[in-house]
Parts: sequence; structure tokens; C-alpha cells
Amino acid sequence: MEIFDKAAALLEEAKNSEIKDANSLEQYRIKYLGSKNILKELFGEIRNIPKERKKEFGQLVNAIKQAAEDKYQTTSASFKSLQEEEEAAQLDLTRPGYNHTVGSRHPVRLVMEEMVEIFKRIGFVVEEDREIEDDWHNFSALNLPEDHPARDMQDTFYISLDPATVLRTHTSSVQVRVMGRQKPPIRILSPGKVFRNETISARSHCFFHQVEGLYIDKDVSFADLLQTLQFFASEFFGPDTKIKVRPSFFPFTEPSAEVDVSCFLCHGEGCNVCKHTGWVEILGCGIVDPKVLENSGIDPNEYSGFAFGVGVERIALMKYGVKDIRTLSENDVRFLDHFKSVVV
Ligand code: PHE
Repeated sequence: MEIFDKAAALLEEAKNSEIKDANSLEQYRIKYLGSKNILKELFGEIRNIPKERKKEFGQLVNAIKQAAEDKYQTTSASFKSLQEEEEAAQLDLTRPGYNHTVGSRHPVRLVMEEMVEIFKRIGFVVEEDREIEDDWHNFSALNLPEDHPARDMQDTFYISLDPATVLRTHTSSVQVRVMGRQKPPIRILSPGKVFRNETISARSHCFFHQVEGLYIDKDVSFADLLQTLQFFASEFFGPDTKIKVRPSFFPFTEPSAEVDVSCFLCHGEGCNVCKHTGWVEILGCGIVDPKVLENSGIDPNEYSGFAFGVGVERIALMKYGVKDIRTLSENDVRFLDHFKSVVV
């Protein structure tokens, strides 16, 4: 029948018409998919078709509709991506870029990371542990029994008195933790936060950071301790840095010492940072007391070791010329922004 030929021709046309631009795409849409499309006209003829062929005809018209829809979709999608490509090609490459806000590393973190990096080179590994500690690990195991006057050296924040739970007053508690779970040789570095109930001022705060070092092996001597600290001082503060060792007292080390480094700003000439002495105190250290080894299950007849604890804030303040320790915990971005350019 003629009408079938017409529909078949239309199907071919819908599939194969050439659409070269947006304009012919629109013409195509109006013809096949618009409100007065050609398919409606064809449908109008359905009443002239014998009953037994009506279904066949309906399917043919649907096929035309489907073909037209498919073609319209794919063609308009390809036009769209072409348009995007063209727009991209017109990008103004001279236009100033967007500013992305870059974060910075905190000066305390910078100092700790640098220390860790230096000690790693001589075989120390990082071990961290809890900030909320029990009396045994923070005090008793470290040779500070209850009522020992040396407990007064560190004003403690107690969380509970019975059994005593404290915010650790030093990272030396990690020594006890690690000796309890590892066998010698032990060579660890433990950076972390510590807490003391001190009046907050420009020079002291109720929390700060320490880096603890511990080395336990056979025949570890005071000379090993000095050599290790001299290596650290030269690497951290510069090759000409000298160390000065002054006798001191800590209940968990015997002998004990405090270590000064020659002022890294004035190189010993005398300046504000070293208060015109040429020296800056940076750490406490000593040979681990045999009682402490014993308390942690290590045989003091077989093993010996040294320990040290470095105060991080002091070094950070001096290194970056910051006058007030409180600025380190105020989180003022204007202050923190200064450290954006520090490359580590
Ligand atoms: N824990 C001591 C302090 O906080 C420092 C220290 C560590 C001293 C290790 C000797 C050995 O002051």
C-alpha cells in the first residue's frame, strides 16, 4: 500500500537525514518530534488501513518516532560537547588565577618533626603513648614513690585520686610503657604533649610538648649519651654548636644532667635569647636508674641505658623568634600564616 511505502521512506529519512548545525537540528525536531509533527499526520491515515494491517502500521510509526528521538538525542549531545570545546578554546589564559588558601604546619610540630628526622638517622624509632596516665607509669615506676618530695617538682593535674589517674607530667611515662612491652635493645623517641598545673604566662603554660629519648642495650654509657646529644645539637642547631653538661637531679636517672647548647643566634656572643650568657638550656638527661629498669622488668645487671627529655616549646620560641608561649596555642591564623613558607 502506498501509505506503507510512505512510512518506510520516512523511517529511512529520519535515520539518515544530515544534521549539520543547530538550525537544522531544530528543523528536525519540529518535523519529527514537535507538536505538529509528521507522525501525527501519518496516524491520521490509520483509519484507511485494513484492520489486519493496523498493528503493523502502528509499529512502523513507532519505529520512526524512536529513530527520530535517538537521532535527536545523540546529535544534540555531540553539538553540546563541541560547543564546550569551542568555549574551552576561548579561555583567557592571561586571566589571574584563583587564590587557594594554603595551610601551614604548626611551629611546635615543625620542631618535633625535625628532631624525629634527625634521631631516625641514628636508629631511633618513634613510639607514642597515652596522655592520660596512671600513677605507676608517670611516677612510681620512675622512682618517684608516693610522698617523694620530687613529685612537687611537677605540679600535677589529677583526674582521680583513687586509684590515681593523671594527665602525664612528662613523656618519661612512655619509657616505662615501652620497657614493659619491648625487650632490649630499645632505641626510641617519643614526641608528645604533657600537662602541668602551672600559672599561664608568657613563659610557661599548663600544657606543652616534650620529645623523650630512650636507649637501652648492653654497656650503654654516659659517653654514648653525650655523643648522641652532640650529634643532635650539631644537626639541629648547626655544625659549630657546642653542648655544655651540668650535673642535675632526676629521680629516674643517675647520674643526671641538664644540657645547654651554645646560643644558635649569637653563637656565644651574648644576646636576648640566651640572656647574654651564650648558652641556652634545652634538655634533661641521664643514665637510667637501675631501679627503673627493674620496675619495668629489665635486668639492670645485664642492661644499661640513657634517657633524655627535650622541651619543644622553648626551642620553637627561640628558633622562630616568638616572644610569648601563649601565641602557640591561640590558633590565630595571622600568626600561623607566618609558617607557610617553612619547607621541611
Ligand atoms: N622528664 C624530665 C622532665 O620532664 C626530663 C628528663 C627525661 C630527664 C629523661 C632525664 C631523663 O623534666
